[in-house]
This record gives sequence, structure tokens and C-alpha cells, in this order.
Amino acid sequence: MKLGIPREQHEGERRVAATPETVKQLAGLGLEVLIESTAGDAAGYSDHDYVQAGAQMVPYLNTGELDVLAHVRPLETATAKALKRGAITVGLASPSSELATVQALADAGVTSFALELVPRISRAQSMDALSSQALVAGYRSVLEAAIRLPRFFPLYMTAAGTVPPARVLVLGAGVAGLQAIGTAKRLGARVSANDIRPASADEVASMGGTFIRLDLETAEASGGYARELSADRGALQRELLAPHVAQSDVLITTAAVPGRRAPLLVSRQMVQGMRPGSVVVDLAAESGGNVEGCVPGEDILVPTSDGQGHVTVVGLKDAPSAMASDASRLYAKNVANLLALMTRDGSVIPDFDDDVVAGACLTHDGGVRHLPTAEALAALNPAPPTLAPGATTEGAL
Ligand code: NAI
Repeated sequence: MKLGIPREQHEGERRVAATPETVKQLAGLGLEVLIESTAGDAAGYSDHDYVQAGAQMVPYLNTGELDVLAHVRPLETATAKALKRGAITVGLASPSSELATVQALADAGVTSFALELVPRISRAQSMDALSSQALVAGYRSVLEAAIRLPRFFPLYMTAAGTVPPARVLVLGAGVAGLQAIGTAKRLGARVSANDIRPASADEVASMGGTFIRLDLETAEASGGYARELSADRGALQRELLAPHVAQSDVLITTAAVPGRRAPLLVSRQMVQGMRPGSVVVDLAAESGGNVEGCVPGEDILVPTSDGQGHVTVVGLKDAPSAMASDASRLYAKNVANLLALMTRDGSVIPDFDDDVVAGACLTHDGGVRHLPTAEALAALNPAPPTLAPGATTEGAL
């Protein structure tokens, strides 16, 4: 089977869905790997290295000829339409926001796998791109903050005096938040964190952070994900967090609720209550933002209420792409491991009796298998899409 790896088209995207290392793995499975020339350049993987690993370079991928297409960003609708019937795609698909592409994939009879839908179970950890990319983003968020902070992160006791460590507060202690905690600790900061899932308290402690307990009800949903707080609970959370925010030099926010806009955790007033020079990094900027007024891809200066300076609010965008080499290394492994699970004797043949395969499948056989996405499409279309046989209700996206 022919597996194609495209040059990513999305502006600012530097990652690639295969590395020379995974080309070896995929070729070893019996797949013929075609890579669009320069696809790996921005991530530091040269055409030469891909050829050495066993790939065939092509100036342009002829999408209609491919049996399998592996990608990073959700496909353009036109690409989905150009795929042949029965073709297989693997990559990030943003099913809740890219409904037109989902419809096009279903209409084209493509079997598409959305990495966001890979079940969060132990057996599927090596295919979990949400985790691998959140790890990169969490690490990066701390570096972005450190570079803007006019202070050290670690404690310094010098002949010229003692410099106290920076205080870092992390809101949302999922995969990205835990990485942010670990990275800030390694830089020597004093780190505290909050999450509405009680289970996260031990994880925060294991990364060296201090868990801030708020007097709020538990907000854990199925699958270990968070539930959206009601409006008054959200307001109470902001009120309880305000003094912790005010005491922080650096605030990193990573809170998300699957399939929903990111919860607003920090009001403009809370930002204004921070000390001049403080830095806020909002990792949820692209999904609505945890911090009021943040703008994806921009630094906003918010005057402090004491009139003495300003706080820098960073709307982090494309964070994994900023570290494209390692982000691609991990992402490409996730893709290759999912393909390996489905490949026998050089052919990718999904076995829908496998929970991971069934859970990750978005469209198949002319229909949409992921029930929440099928319902979202049905709400838009007078003629709802066909529900594929074995449609799953798993995953909240
Ligand atoms: P996510 O990206 O969906 O959300 C980030 C964090 O924001 C979560 O910890 C969530 O509880 C928190 N959050 C949501 N609303 C909040 C609010 N109002 N205030 C404070 N925090 C709020 O989460 P992620 O990183 O995808 O992890 C979700 C779950 O999946 C976790 O329980 C994690 O341990 C689990 N997981 C399991 C894996 C496995 O078993 N293979 C792999 C990775 C994650």
C-alpha cells in the first residue's frame, strides 16, 4: 500500500507526520512511503534523511493515488474530496470544529482516524498525540514565560545579595499543566497549581508542586476528563483563585473541557491585581482562552491596578509547532504506532473489534462513526449523514 506524507499547508505549521525513524518502521511493515519534497524541512528532517531511511520523495503528492494519508493538521475539504474511496487517513481532525471536512471524508467513502479520539487507555498511550503534543506545549509555555519575566526563576544567594525564587501558578493540571509544573520546578521556581479534578492533587505533588485546594464541588466527568462548571461555580472559582493569582510572578493556564470553549478562569481585574512585570501565558488561547482579553499569537500589556507598570499576557499559539523537531518526533511515533496496530503483511486493514481502532475511527464506509460528531452534523444538515455501522459514543469531542 502507498502511504503519503504531505507538506503541511496550514500557516505557521512546522511539524510533519513522519520522521526518518518512523519511515524505517513504516517501511518495515511493508508500506511504500511517499514523502512530499521538503515536508520535513521546517522540523529539521531533510529529504536526504528520508531517502536514506527508505522513503521515496515526490515533488507533489498525488492524493488520489494514495491508499493511506498521514497528516498533522486537519485536512482541507478539497484534500478529503480528492482521496479515493476506501482510502485511510490518520491525523488530527478537530472533529467538533472541522465538520465540513468530516462530511467530505464520509461522502468520499474514506476511513479516517482522528488522533483526538484515540481512547485514553494504557494500551493506546503510544498512540496518544493529545498527550505527546500537550507535553511539548506545557514545557514551551514555561520557557515563553521565563524569557519575558524580568526576574530569575531560581533562588540565588550571591555575594551581591539574595534573589528569591519566582512564584509560578499553574491552572489546569492535565498533561500540559503537569509538564509546566515539572519544567518550572526544574528551573527552580516555587510552583503551585489548581485543577477541578481531585485526582490531580497527587499528580501535582508528584511533579513537585503544591496543590491549591478550593472549596468547590468535584467536577470530574467520565474518562478522567473535567466537567464544565456552572456559571456561579465558575465565578466562585475566580473569586477563590484571585489572591493566589495576585501573589504569582508567573501564571500559566492550561484548563480545557473536551468539546467546549476553554473555561474563563482569570478576569481582567485579576490580571490587573498582579505585580508589575508579571507574566501570564494562556495555553488555551486558541480554544477561547482561560484569561480574559488574551489574543492567540499576541502579547498584550495590561496595566496593573497600582498604576506602576503592566502585566504581559501571552496568548500562546501553535506551541508544539514552535518545537517542531521533537514535537514531530513524538507525533510521528503516535501515527506510526496506530498504523502498526492496523497493518498486516503490508496492508492497512482496520479491525473494528479492537477498541483502540474502533474508538479512533471518525468516518468509515460512507458514514460518520463518532456519534457526537454525527449528531453535530445532523444538527447542521437537513439531510443528516449516514451513521456508519458500529458508530461509537466514545469521546466527547
Ligand atoms: P485537558 O487538556 O482536557 O484539560 C486540561 C486540564 O484542565 C484538565 O486536567 C482539567 O481537569 C482541567 N480543567 C478543566 N476545567 C478546569 C477549571 N475550571 N479549573 C481548573 N482546571 C480545569 O486534559 P488532558 O491533559 O487531556 O487530561 C485529561 C485526563 O486524561 C486527565 O485525567 C489525564 O490524567 C487523563 N489522561 C489519561 C491518559 C491515559 O490513561 N493514557 C493519557 C493522558 C491523559
